[in-house]
Amino acid sequence: MMLYLLLATLLSLSYSFNIPASNLIETSNIIKSKQFEKSNFDVTEIKKFFKNDDNYNPTYSVGIIGATGAVGQEIINCLHNTKFPVSELNLYTSKKSSNKIITTPFGRHYTKEFNIDDAKECNFLFLAVSGDFSKKNAIELCEKGAFVIDNSSAFRYDENVPLVIPEINKHKIKGKRLIANPNCTTAIALMALFPIFKLFGLTKVIMSTYQAASGAGNKGIIELEESIKDKNYKNEIFTYPLAFNVIPHIDKFQDNKYTKEEMKVSWEIQKILGVPDLPVSCTAVRIPTIRAHSEAITVETEKPIDYNLLKTEFDSFSGLKVVDNPEKNIYPMPLTASESYDVEVGRVRPSLIFGDFGLDMFVCGDQLLRGAALNAVLIAKSITEEI
Ligand SMILES: NC(=O)c1ccc[n+]([C@@H]2O[C@H](COP(=O)([O-])OP(=O)(O)OC[C@H]3O[C@@H](n4cnc5c(N)ncnc54)[C@H](OP(=O)(O)O)[C@@H]3O)[C@@H](O)[C@H]2O)c1
Repeated sequence: MMLYLLLATLLSLSYSFNIPASNLIETSNIIKSKQFEKSNFDVTEIKKFFKNDDNYNPTYSVGIIGATGAVGQEIINCLHNTKFPVSELNLYTSKKSSNKIITTPFGRHYTKEFNIDDAKECNFLFLAVSGDFSKKNAIELCEKGAFVIDNSSAFRYDENVPLVIPEINKHKIKGKRLIANPNCTTAIALMALFPIFKLFGLTKVIMSTYQAASGAGNKGIIELEESIKDKNYKNEIFTYPLAFNVIPHIDKFQDNKYTKEEMKVSWEIQKILGVPDLPVSCTAVRIPTIRAHSEAITVETEKPIDYNLLKTEFDSFSGLKVVDNPEKNIYPMPLTASESYDVEVGRVRPSLIFGDFGLDMFVCGDQLLRGAALNAVLIAKSITEEI
C-alpha cells in the first residue's frame, strides 16, 4: 500500500493534464497510466503489479479521432455512460472543426486538429474518421502502446486484426493493439444471430436491411432533413433523394452485383462466427429514418429450433432485448431502438420455408451505438478488465 501511494504521488507530480475529464476523476485514485507509456503500457502488467492492492483503480488517457462526427459524439457519451475510467479526454478533428469548444458529459472541451505524435501518447484511441484515414494512421498510432479501436472497414478483413463484438468473441482481443469494430449492420444482426448459432447452428442467413440516414454520418442526417423540407434539395450523399423514397444501394457495387455494404455483412458474420463458408446473403436498403437500422432476417439452422430454449437464451444475452408481442402490436422499430443500448428482436416465427430448421425475425438496433460507439467502448472496457 505504501509503495502504491508513493508511486501514485510521484507519478501524479510528474504528469500534467492536457484536458481533464474533471467530473469523472477521483484524484486520490488516479494512477497516471500515461506513465507506463511507450511500449511499456500494458494493462495486464500494470494490474499484475498492483494485484494485491484493493485501491488500485487505474484511469486512462483517451483520444477520439473524428470527435465531431456522428460516431465520435456517441463515443464520448458511451465513455461517460459506461463509466469508462477516463483521466484525460482528447478530441481530435480535422482542421475545419479544431479549436472549438464542445459540450460533453465530461464538461466543455476544446477540439484539436489531429496530430499523430500527440494522439499516439494516449492509452486508448477511437478512430471514427474514414477507412483511408485509418489505413494511413492506425498502425503508427499503436506504436507507443496505445490500444486503437477502429470504426472503419480498413482492417476488418485483415487476419491479424480481430473483429470483435465483446459479448461474442472478446477473447480475440488478447495481445492485440489494433482492434476492428464491425460494420453497423453486421453488429446489430449478430446480437440476435449469435444466440441461435450457439444453440442450433446456422447453415444459411438471408437478410434485407432498412438503414437510417445517419449511417452515412452527419452529412446523411442533414441531407435527409433538408430534402424533407425542400423537394428540390440537391442530393450529394445518397444516390437519389432519400426523402419519401427507399434506395436499394449502399456503398459501391461489386463484380458479383452485391454492394460493398452487403458483402461486408457476409464477410464479417463469417469472420466473427468463425465459419468462413457460412452462406450469408444481404440486400441493403437506405430508408428515410434518422437513426437505427432494421433488418428482416431469415435463417436455416443445423438443428430443429426449440423456441422456449431460444427465448431463454435471447433473454439472458446481454445487449439484446426481446420485443415480441404481436397481439399487442409490440415489435422492434427504429423509434424504440434509437438511443437504446439494447438491440431489439421480435416477430420471431417458424419459417414457412425451412420448417423446424429455420425462423424469421425482425431486428432493430441503434447503429451509432451497438453498430459503432457502444461496441467500441465495450471493446475498450474488455481490454481494461483483463480478458
Ligand atoms: N455513421 C454510422 O452509423 C457508422 C456506423 C459504423 C461505423 N461507421 C464508421 O465510422 C467512421 C466515422 O463515421 P461518421 O458517421 O461518424 O462520420 P462523420 O459524421 O462524417 O464524421 C467524420 C469525423 O471525422 C473527422 N475528420 C475528417 N477528416 C479528418 C482528419 N483528417 N483528421 C481528423 N478528423 C477528421 C470529422 O471532423 P470535422 O468535423 O473536422 O470534419 C468528423 O469528426 C467511418 O469510418 C464510418 O464508416 C459509421
